[in-house]
Amino acid sequence: MASYRGLNDLGPLAGKCALVRVDFNVPMDPESKTITDDTRMRAALPTIRWLLGQNARVILMSHLGRPKGPDPKFSLRPVAEHLARLLARPVGFVGELVGPAVKQAVAKLEPGDVLMLENVRFHPGETKNDPELARQLASLADVYVDDAFGSAHRAHASVAGVPAFLPSAAGLLMERELAMLGDVLGSPERPYWAIIGGAKVSDKVALLDRLVATADGLVIGGGMANTFLAAEGYHLGASKVEAEAAAKAKTLLEQARERGVPIGLPVDLVVAEAFAPDSAHHVTTPDRVGDDELALDIGPATVEKIGQWLAAARTVFWNGPMGVFEWEAFSSGTIGVASALAESTAKVVVGGGDSVAAVAKAGIADRLTHVSTGGGAALEFLEGKALPGVLALAK
Ligand code: 3PG
Repeated sequence: MASYRGLNDLGPLAGKCALVRVDFNVPMDPESKTITDDTRMRAALPTIRWLLGQNARVILMSHLGRPKGPDPKFSLRPVAEHLARLLARPVGFVGELVGPAVKQAVAKLEPGDVLMLENVRFHPGETKNDPELARQLASLADVYVDDAFGSAHRAHASVAGVPAFLPSAAGLLMERELAMLGDVLGSPERPYWAIIGGAKVSDKVALLDRLVATADGLVIGGGMANTFLAAEGYHLGASKVEAEAAAKAKTLLEQARERGVPIGLPVDLVVAEAFAPDSAHHVTTPDRVGDDELALDIGPATVEKIGQWLAAARTVFWNGPMGVFEWEAFSSGTIGVASALAESTAKVVVGGGDSVAAVAKAGIADRLTHVSTGGGAALEFLEGKALPGVLALAK
């Protein structure tokens, strides 16, 4: 794997201006503008504090949501206010990304000051990786730091464009993500097992291909398990089965068998009468799902089996919930797997938005080796894809 420039490679930073790309794309209550989960912000604090400790002047930039242009709903102002509380020091905010107002605000920065720019996606050049926007952003600072692992799969100006114009380095969070996920991808301690869940096989084909070729065992849960069970010949009543992905599931099962890689599919399911949080439900086996029933979680015997399957694992990667965990009645499978992983002595790495939320719901994040701040970025990295934001930092 390529090596990256780190913060120490930037030389003395006292009085210098550091332009830092963070991923503060955080969930926010639309009415109160309260940040409902600030994990990503807290994860970037070590880098910001490190730069402040060097007496640098810090300019932060991030995206928030997917606005089509300037849109007050997606302003980063509430995020800057929240950051000020986390850092326990003032954080300036300028409602533009480039231009005279930004230049003025930057000119006023003293060593140890923090300024946050407005949402990078308000500018049409951001997602086009416009070199002119990248050049203008770079002109604000002396060095560039990328701590936005969650955005590293985006070839956008603030991620992949700016490093062409400034001495650049990975921040501490970026380095930790690359080290942790890099170990899982490149040199996992074996046996290496992956637990993959979530709604659809079609969203994760590249990841499943990679895992069948590299892991020592695979557990499939969540909605996507229906498609695998259907490929094994089970009739799953009214459960969601992706007809167009059934052939792919069959091929993956065959390839795994050829390689001698065990694939653990659910041995029992929680089935409901309707897709509703309060639907009547019960546990059954995959061969006994009624015509009108739909599987919304894995059952207790499967959770127990997963514990047995993983008992010898030295590395576990988990992505995707085991059921509709947002609904209490169908959360036991996901919470059960999270609890089993919290007890495990293996190196456990969790990546991907929903599974991170599941870990948070189970309250076990601090008992795992690493919970990635990347959703799509973590998945693309583990598929073996080169991420534009990481390539831009290579030595
Ligand atoms: C994420 O939430 O996965 C990252 O912030 C990337 O957001 P995006 O998918 O809108 O680029």
